[in-house]
Amino acid sequence: MPLSPEESTATRRGFLDWIIYSCSTILGGTIILPAVAYLWPVTKSGPVKVREEIGEAANWNIWGAKKVSVGNKPVLVIRTDKGFVAFSAVCTHLGCLVEFNPVKQNIICPCHAASFDIEGKVEGGPPPRPLAAYKVSEVQGKVFVST
Ligand code: FES
Repeated sequence: MPLSPEESTATRRGFLDWIIYSCSTILGGTIILPAVAYLWPVTKSGPVKVREEIGEAANWNIWGAKKVSVGNKPVLVIRTDKGFVAFSAVCTHLGCLVEFNPVKQNIICPCHAASFDIEGKVEGGPPPRPLAAYKVSEVQGKVFVST
């Protein structure tokens, strides 16, 4: 039985709608998915890890400290009586650079008189969080920091 003119138009219109939706979906997928992958690469593969040699262990005194740059991040490295520790040198309050105080064996922020203990925990002052800790390793007398 032949289709009525209204049924025929509805069928052609449905087919054209299907073609338009299909093309839109394919085009949207080819544009949106690569854009999302480009804007979200860190969460897909994880943050970039950097490991750099920062010197010879023999050149460090116990309770000596150095500020170094590892992967363009300022890092405070301290040799304690139990080994090396490393923290972000950026204060968690407003971003000033922290210093090691060898007399009190703690870390201070000169901007607002904050202090952190040798584990990076806040002892006093306005910082809301501890300093970020980084891994330090000693291989064949050389000291490495991973951020
Ligand atoms: S920036 Fe360090 S205490 Fe304010």
